[in-house]
Amino acid sequence: MSLPALKRRLAYLAEEAGRSGTRIFAVGGCVRDWLLGRDTVDIDLAVEGDPGPLARTALRLWGGGQEAHERFGTACLKLEDGLRLDFARTRAESYERPAALPKVRPAGIEDDLRRRDFTVNAMARPLTPMGLGELLDPFGGKADLEARRLRALHPRSFEDDPTRLFRAARYAARFGLAPDKETRSLIASAAERGLAGLLSRERVRQELLRTLEEEEASPAMALLKEWGLLGAFHPDFLWLPSTDMDSDPLLRLGVCALVMGARGEEFIRSLKLERALARDILLVLTMVQERKSPCKPLPALTRELLETHLKGLPETALEPLMLGGEDLKRLGLKPGREFSRLLGEAAEAQWRGEFETKIQALVWVKDALKKQSGRG
Ligand code: CTP
Repeated sequence: MSLPALKRRLAYLAEEAGRSGTRIFAVGGCVRDWLLGRDTVDIDLAVEGDPGPLARTALRLWGGGQEAHERFGTACLKLEDGLRLDFARTRAESYERPAALPKVRPAGIEDDLRRRDFTVNAMARPLTPMGLGELLDPFGGKADLEARRLRALHPRSFEDDPTRLFRAARYAARFGLAPDKETRSLIASAAERGLAGLLSRERVRQELLRTLEEEEASPAMALLKEWGLLGAFHPDFLWLPSTDMDSDPLLRLGVCALVMGARGEEFIRSLKLERALARDILLVLTMVQERKSPCKPLPALTRELLETHLKGLPETALEPLMLGGEDLKRLGLKPGREFSRLLGEAAEAQWRGEFETKIQALVWVKDALKKQSGRG
């Protein structure tokens, strides 16, 4: 969506908010991206009050779906035209221990900016009926962006929330920012203390996926490697820059598992991925090991990963096995151990490209039986 069209929508929300005397701000990533002249479809809105009525108005006017997160009093709208509006109540945060989820309490916009990760993400612009109001930039984020500097907002930033270590790598890589001296030493000390290891696997997974979602993940991965943080994904995790050849983050994840060889399975299981996704990637690992055509059609991700990873496979290697139990029964064989062994051998033969049509498959099985009886 063009910036003027977006601004018209935001102005409308400002009018709505104004009616109940509530202030509303665009905050964080979108403000940073606008300063950089980048388009964004993710707009974080901070409301000094209950964001519920405003979120409902937006949904009524512009359609789409809603996800609400009660814990933080937020509502995330994905509108029909792809725009995402994230509404949250302005809040202050405190952390009881490193890496714990924060305790939150309602607060004004100043406190809301103070709880954030980096100066470049701690800026806001009020929404006004005329559009976007003047930049609120209490920590010098704009100057840091201009100087291409990444600066943590306060010394406990990484301790409060070690996911910020991964965020630092992404922002530094994506925008060509260099951490300033203080931030570098905070990162080094957090890495040395193993703070990333305190995060739940779910949070680590989210950081990994967000890194893989970067247009190119390699620059951020290189920084994580330099900072000694790749091991947070898995002790054997390694990043090959060629992984970026696929732009789909899930394919990239599959490649990461593949290059880890025998440890790939443990890596995928440890991430506690959505069940179907884990299954599709684990299937790739099994197939690479077993080298057999599958018994049923492969899920798209599995297929694509195998095609990318194993160049030069015969065309029908990834198709379901052309022979079934019925074919063997018609040839007079009875289900049993031999029967399964023959189907297994046929799957290996199809993988190697020894037959590519059903007729060829039947010839193959007859030959195999002849050889067997010759041997017997
Ligand atoms: N934020 C934070 N600490 C975190 C996560 C988020 O301070 N651990 C704040 C930052 O101000 C950030 C905002 O919440 O800008 C929104 O978070 P997110 O959507 O993750 O960040 P974006 O900056 O929008 O990131 P991206 O451009 O990568 O989507």
